[in-house]
Amino acid sequence: MKIPDIIIAVDGYSSTGKSTFAKMVAKEFGFLYLDSGAMYRGVTLAGMERGAVGETIDEAALKALLPPLDLHFVHSEEGTLLFDGQRCIEKEIRTLEVSGKVSPVSALPLVRAWVDERLHAFAEKGRVIMDGRDIGTTVFPRAELKIFVTAAEDVRAQRRFDELVSKGDSPRFEDVLANLRERDYIDSHRETSPLRQAPDAFVLDNSDMTMHEELVWMRGLIQGKFGILA
Ligand code: DC
Repeated sequence: MKIPDIIIAVDGYSSTGKSTFAKMVAKEFGFLYLDSGAMYRGVTLAGMERGAVGETIDEAALKALLPPLDLHFVHSEEGTLLFDGQRCIEKEIRTLEVSGKVSPVSALPLVRAWVDERLHAFAEKGRVIMDGRDIGTTVFPRAELKIFVTAAEDVRAQRRFDELVSKGDSPRFEDVLANLRERDYIDSHRETSPLRQAPDAFVLDNSDMTMHEELVWMRGLIQGKFGILA
């Protein structure tokens, strides 16, 4: 028996392993994976490249560049990749420079409205697992299954550091940790859709869990929720 065509919302702080978990669940149960953070990163990169995001954010310039901006996901063998028009920007959006600017950009209501509209369109067909900060609270408050992922701060910083190193970057650990703390603060204190655990979300603390253990946890959750063996 398979899981019904539902929307699964996965939220949590930066670098909790939300996307790794969501990708694994998508693959295991045949869901479409959508990374909402990638959209915010894409808007931030576009703003940086087109002069709207620098030391400060030029809101008027950002507002002007959004309507024609063609950010979309391409689902390939390599996974889900973000494109700006014809250009794959998956690598560019994951740098520490973009990470350093994305939280203030994503705090802007005009940016959130633009991204939310697209997230709804991408998820139109259902059977989607989407990760982010406000998926279960704002984007899909009626998602049938909500998961809130947490992990200890030092574990999260180490994961992010390892990820950047594996991509060929050579960041300083202190910078990675500082960026993580700053983003957590901004993401959970902004006025529009701050990061919050939805009251009906199930908490997954994966500080000391392997991916296999996370999968076992998910199977148990599905069994409890839908009464089916996944
Ligand atoms: O998941 P991530 O670290 O790639 O997300 C990058 C930033 O985007 C994060 O610091 C806050 C923002 N974001 C958001 O505000 N709302 C979401 N649903 C997803 C991400």
